[in-house]
Amino acid sequence: MPVEMTPGDLPVFALHTETTSYAFTVTAEGLVRHLHWGGPVAAADMIVEPVWELSTNDLIQDIVVQEYPCHGRFRYNEAALRVRFPDGGRELDLRYREAILGDERLDVVLEDDKGLEVTLHYSVLPEVDALVRWATITSRVPGVVLESVASAQFHVPFRDLDLRNVSGHWGAEQQEVVQRVSTKVVLESRRGISNHHHSPYAVLSREATEVAGRVWAAALAFSGNTKVVVEQTQYGETLLQLGVNDHDTEVALDPGVGFETPQVVAVYTEGGLGGMSRKMHAYGESLMDPQVRPVLYNSWEATNFAVTAEGQIALAQKAAEIGTELFVVDDGWFGRRNPDQTGGIHDGLGDWWVDPEKFPAGLSPLIEAVQEAGMRFGLWVEPEMVNPDSDLFAAHPDWIYREPGREVDQARGQYVLNLNLPEVEEFIIETLDGLLRDNDIDYVKWDANRPMSQVGVRRDVWFGHIAALYRIVAEIKRRHPGVLVESCASGGGRIDFGALAVFDDFWTSDNTDALDRLEIQRAYSLVYPPRAMRAWVTDVPNFLSQRSIPLSFRFHSAMMGSLGIGCDLTAMSPEDLAASSRYISEYKQLRPLMRDFHRLENPSSNDYRLFQYSSPQGAVLFAFLPASRLGHKPTTVRLRGLDPHARYRFTHDWQQREVSGEYLMNRGLRLWLQGDYASSVIRFDRITEPTG
Ligand code: GLA
Repeated sequence: MPVEMTPGDLPVFALHTETTSYAFTVTAEGLVRHLHWGGPVAAADMIVEPVWELSTNDLIQDIVVQEYPCHGRFRYNEAALRVRFPDGGRELDLRYREAILGDERLDVVLEDDKGLEVTLHYSVLPEVDALVRWATITSRVPGVVLESVASAQFHVPFRDLDLRNVSGHWGAEQQEVVQRVSTKVVLESRRGISNHHHSPYAVLSREATEVAGRVWAAALAFSGNTKVVVEQTQYGETLLQLGVNDHDTEVALDPGVGFETPQVVAVYTEGGLGGMSRKMHAYGESLMDPQVRPVLYNSWEATNFAVTAEGQIALAQKAAEIGTELFVVDDGWFGRRNPDQTGGIHDGLGDWWVDPEKFPAGLSPLIEAVQEAGMRFGLWVEPEMVNPDSDLFAAHPDWIYREPGREVDQARGQYVLNLNLPEVEEFIIETLDGLLRDNDIDYVKWDANRPMSQVGVRRDVWFGHIAALYRIVAEIKRRHPGVLVESCASGGGRIDFGALAVFDDFWTSDNTDALDRLEIQRAYSLVYPPRAMRAWVTDVPNFLSQRSIPLSFRFHSAMMGSLGIGCDLTAMSPEDLAASSRYISEYKQLRPLMRDFHRLENPSSNDYRLFQYSSPQGAVLFAFLPASRLGHKPTTVRLRGLDPHARYRFTHDWQQREVSGEYLMNRGLRLWLQGDYASSVIRFDRITEPTG
């Protein structure tokens, strides 16, 4: 571990990543005081300035910025920790006890003499240039209840920072929000299992552009109720706290059994928003299975619930012809799952047996057809849910969340199973294990189409649900190595680093309109890695926007992520099938070059959207012009992330060219798209040996 610790009773700790340092110390009162989060500094150089009380209303405990400020005494900012002791007391008085430096992490142990211990964990990810923090809370005495527990608090020594996150709803996830922080901002999820609304991270910056400027960013690896608090203090600085949401939550501590919070990854850069995003992407990649994400076909938009063996085999044959690598059957294949006359769906969830009417010989004939055509096979499931009209609910009406004495809420005609019950966890594991054993399944699309509500009398279930979900997915993957599991929650409702630690892909949004997707995908790329971003080409007019966008633009937009096809291929014209086949083959060739993602500048008054990947072998430029305005003005594209001294070969304006990386990054290319929904993808091949 790249950690320095100065000698003495009040040590200074400095953790170093490749380009950053993070430092803190211990005060004479035993508080863990934050000192630095930014560019490199040495522990031995650290000047620990005294802090003074400003007045009897601005007291020292409020002014000292702490690594993990807890409730009680003169502390009034957001508390990282609140507990209730058996005597009803709530004040915490945590003092530094010791630091333990292991190979993997630094543990800083704080103690309250009422029997509570808090361990702050710090570790460094050298390959990501990032820091990871989390905490474990342990009680030595019975009867202690956690009322609120954050994973970490950070401190940025500036005011008036820009805060970036996203806002949205179903079909419009990941709409970027930028706001100047001047007071306190809380970004949270209270829905238990899904979060279309915000994402559990904060990007704080000071005069940053895509390529330059200071950026501090932290993201919480948790998929349930989360809370991100950004608080500008009266003393000219900004606090950032991330953790499990304390909304309607309490956790009773068993003596000696630590409560371990989710982890937070934290990055600092002077390389602007683009630099920050690439570090976050590298963190995401470090969690991900390295296998190439196959080009998939998914039947949802083509068939909705009307899946049949015959219909799916017909789609699979076409999908294979155009080069798809994986065929995924979406909702409708199981139980008695049929929409009513109004299109509403009320039955089937929970009954994970193959519908004998739709698949008289089971899934085998379809799987064999898929495999004979050279593809892998995937299946949609929604294991956390049950419909009232199902065998499962008839057998176990007590397996759902319910508020005593109240009618249970339905959304999409379904209830949420109480994953906190060990028998429910066991049922899901055994059912999915059986499905995967009985059928040759390589890919699972795991959906969750409603939030939790009416969770009953216990308040630890919000957290427990997600802990159980992670255990279930991990166990399925342990029993079936190599299987990829896609995280979906009514579209992009479960996109976060906690999910990415167990799942392999994100279904980014049910909104598959290629132009809307450019916005969604751009904001998604702020923090999350594009390789996990599933993007489909679907039919026009789009079911949501009713817009008809040309196939080329639809493919180019989807090729920026992990490509999928959702068209009704049996109704596609031979010309479009042939074009699709060409795009898929081009995408497969571009895939190895798609490593580091860049959002490029557009200097034109025309609304070009420019994105690029770079890698040691070359680069790929994605350019879009949704609607031409003010005449057909060109733009200038200056590439990024190339080797200035290497030479690159590419085709532009129908001519093959060869120039240096320096040229492409400094002068750039003139690019002229014309008309509406114009788009272009240009491949750049490095023709000198990579320097490594
Ligand atoms: C959700 C998903 C869709 C599809 C349907 C199936 O809405 O986001 O992609 O799987 O469920 O019911």
